[in-house]
Amino acid sequence: MSKPLVSIVMGSASDWEVMKQAAQQLKDFGVACDARVISAHRSPDLLFDYIKEAVAQGVRCFIAGAGGAAHLAGVIAGKTTLPVLGVPMPSKHLQGLDSLLSIVQMPKGIPVATFAIGEAGAANAGLFAVAMLAMNDAPLAQKLADYRRKQAEAIAAITLPALG
Ligand code: RP5
Repeated sequence: MSKPLVSIVMGSASDWEVMKQAAQQLKDFGVACDARVISAHRSPDLLFDYIKEAVAQGVRCFIAGAGGAAHLAGVIAGKTTLPVLGVPMPSKHLQGLDSLLSIVQMPKGIPVATFAIGEAGAANAGLFAVAMLAMNDAPLAQKLADYRRKQAEAIAAITLPALG
């Protein structure tokens, strides 16, 4: 097993159904990641220890998924200068708008790159991590270019049904 380059953290096991989209993208591109549940408010000490350990082990960025009053990504960003990619979870009462605003409205000085609510956001966070790593990895950059080309080819191949 190669050393993880990306650390995926989520606030609850209930986030995994969405966050596994980020892990799947990384796996598809052959990028090793570590994924785990650590809550910023339920287990803050564990979170701080984990960030320190992940940074020491050489991860290049964090992807953080959380819902509701979602401070996980912001707290991670406060503890490391590595890029933090935040994914807002769809929430029960406000459909993820609470999560989105909690993650995107970081005060000046501690940035979190914020993605769309839910599965598209998680998948795109994975792809964005790939794009960052691809800046210093030519074979990975080629894989990413191929992935984009296939999407363009799929669009070009679409024909609409004829009118009756
Ligand atoms: C947040 O609270 C988690 O990120 C999750 O999205 C939300 C609900 O957590 P559970 O009550 O399902 O554990 O901390």
